Amino acid sequence: MLSNRRILLIIGGGIAAYKSLDLIRRLQDRGARVRCILTDAAQQFVTALAAGTLCGERAYTDLFDAQSEFDVGHIRLARDTDLVVVAPATADLMAKITGGHADDLATAVLLATDKPILIAPAMNPHMWAAKATQRNLAQLKADGFRVAGPNSGEMAERGEAGVGRMAEPTEIVAAAEALLHRAGALTGKRVLVTSGPTSEPIDPVRYIANRSSGKQGHAIAAAAAAAGAEVVLVSGPVTVPDPAGVSVVKVETARQMLEAVEQALPADVAVFAAAVADWRPRQASAGKIKKDGRGPPTLELVENPDILATLAHRKSGRPRLVIGFAAETDDVLAHAKAKLKKKGCDWILANDVSPTTGIMGGDDNTVHLISAAGVEAWPPQSKEGVARMLVGRVATELGKKKR
Ligand code: CTP
Repeated sequence: MLSNRRILLIIGGGIAAYKSLDLIRRLQDRGARVRCILTDAAQQFVTALAAGTLCGERAYTDLFDAQSEFDVGHIRLARDTDLVVVAPATADLMAKITGGHADDLATAVLLATDKPILIAPAMNPHMWAAKATQRNLAQLKADGFRVAGPNSGEMAERGEAGVGRMAEPTEIVAAAEALLHRAGALTGKRVLVTSGPTSEPIDPVRYIANRSSGKQGHAIAAAAAAAGAEVVLVSGPVTVPDPAGVSVVKVETARQMLEAVEQALPADVAVFAAAVADWRPRQASAGKIKKDGRGPPTLELVENPDILATLAHRKSGRPRLVIGFAAETDDVLAHAKAKLKKKGCDWILANDVSPTTGIMGGDDNTVHLISAAGVEAWPPQSKEGVARMLVGRVATELGKKKR
């Protein structure tokens, strides 16, 4: 909930601005008090009257407006809030914020505020992919801005699709709640999650990978953030969008994943949902391997580090709760129990990933929770459902350990 939380919504000038009107309502539904600033460009898409009517107070538009400077002033707008949300954050607005511009009310407030800022970028996929935008995004993240979306899908322009759609209002609300730590079961806890496959290069164009989509790991990261945790998600190459309100570290190989995981410590809880490649080619070829008439090449494989076992067996800095997955195609429970022991983790979520189950890459999951206390069968449900149940169990367990 956002009961009595004050949110300053800055609406930028993009077609997604129409969704920001819905966002005002959704934030209010969660109990927030919303104030609005519209940039000049935003007013080409929605009116200050519409935004102000929804907010129940005038929407602010001008830096040098005698009345609003007299009423509140841009410094008070910047300070009398708990969170600033920029939605849609256009490429231009992102560039201005990155550069510390303050030539209109929105940018002046963003520069003056000492409150957390959540941005929801929205723009054409080419603008999003542009080097300048990605550079600005990296800088904004380094400066502590939190980012929700963008999602991939159809653009407003006919025939255009790709990454650049603004996150849905419900996703932005979830990110705002996570940021304000109000939902609470994991407030103050740091959670580390691995997700997706790893990709192990054979040569510059070929690699060894697997069918993991990252859906389950990403759902766990999102559920932990929604419960108030500070979440670091270390992800292999996936196409699912970054969950809102989560710090995402992108890696390719198992060795990079291990390094990123170790750098993300300390953590209270670590969940290893990634499908890490067990082996990698001993030496990735520097050039593309060619057919040279001497028959197929032999790939010599070497074992990758076991990230879960490495973390679970740490003498110092071991997370209080280490949770692994066991993806099996036969003797699921027996193999999973053996894995719990071998890897030294506290819990294992076992699932049957035989092709007929459709779990690998699919939207649903059927898991068993295995711990020292025994085996628990969870009902078949969506991967989000599994994530919420797991987060609930984690919160209970951490609560128990404290007493
Ligand atoms: N795991 C890991 N690092 C690895 C291999 C696996 O962190 N190099 C983690 C996975 O994220 C998962 C758990 O270990 O939480 C079990 O992964 P799984 O692939 O089921 O088991 P393996 O250890 O690879 O064993 P096997 O392939 O023999 O079933």
